[in-house]
Amino acid sequence: MKLPSRVQLVDVGPRDGLQNEKQPVPAAVKIELVHRLQAAGLKEIEVTSYVSPKWVPQMADNHEVMSGMQRQGGIRYSVLTPNLKGYEAAVLDRPDEIVVFGAASEAFSQKNINCSIAESIERFAPVVEAARAAGIAVRGAMSCTVGCPYEGEIAPERVGYLAGLMKGIGVQRVDVADTIGVGTPLKVQAAIEATLTHYGVDAVSGHFHDTYGQALSNTLAALEMGVWNFQSSVAGLGGCPYAKGATGNVATEDVVYLLHGMGIHTGIDLDALVDAGAYISAQLGRPSGSRVARALLAKRAG
Ligand code: HMG
Ligand code: MG
Repeated sequence: MKLPSRVQLVDVGPRDGLQNEKQPVPAAVKIELVHRLQAAGLKEIEVTSYVSPKWVPQMADNHEVMSGMQRQGGIRYSVLTPNLKGYEAAVLDRPDEIVVFGAASEAFSQKNINCSIAESIERFAPVVEAARAAGIAVRGAMSCTVGCPYEGEIAPERVGYLAGLMKGIGVQRVDVADTIGVGTPLKVQAAIEATLTHYGVDAVSGHFHDTYGQALSNTLAALEMGVWNFQSSVAGLGGCPYAKGATGNVATEDVVYLLHGMGIHTGIDLDALVDAGAYISAQLGRPSGSRVARALLAKRAG
């Protein structure tokens, strides 16, 4: 077992974290969140998505957020694009990376993006081609790699199959996502193993929702395989509108605490990150979903 010495985190809070909020979150708040995340040392931020506003109203202000934020050099700003229509709108806002998002489960693909896995790949192919021709990086999110809210357990072979399709259309790196947070370490490792038949370990990231409280264990299980890219959400915000009952991503604060405690570098200032989480939690009017943030805030108050 050789743990990585450095981990790169993508904070997906502004996108995955906020997409499911019922009350509209003002674009100015989303922009302030991005600013606070970059001030805390995040080098990758998933800002928004260019999806149908009828499907996900909360992301309808994508242009306002992308054009309103002050970018810092050396930071990769990514956005979700499910089809060419989304890509064409996104590209005007100059993302550094676009994310196509497919699923290892047919039923989830239908519910989330209204098409089969095969059709999704047909839609993604011209998006990937256009992005790469424009010098924009391309990531592929793979949902339901261990479990699906509609189909139950998902076999690793189906993850491998999807990873192969992503590779075939030129997706440069992929996220192994546990959309509904049902995974446990050995199952997550099997999903990663299946992905590694098509992608090198440097091109695989872990995206774990924490619905069942397993996300940190799953993160450690992925680290043990040499995975060093992860997605997490400040204050543990989030959930997918098409995965009922699924809660947010593992909190970035919790992952950073875990990593720093193990001597693994992230470049992130945990105190500043806790402040960013406190800011968005106050805006949403609820306590942070991060255990580490709550503990550190209580310690500060005392
Ligand atoms: P559809 O209805 O099949 O699309 O939706 P369509 O091509 O038939 O078009 C229907 C209407 O949508 C048309 O408008 C299009 O113009 C419009 P109308 O003529 O009716 O006024 N439209 C769009 N508008 C804006 N942007 C677009 C776009 N495309 C079409 N890109 C579609 C298909 C993919 C658009 C829809 O299903 C959709 O928007 N789904 C988004 C679902 C979503 O955002 N889910 C959450 C993100 S994924 C996630 O959270 C998982 C992840 O975190 C990993 C994990 O945890 O698993 C990534
Ligand atoms: Mg997600």
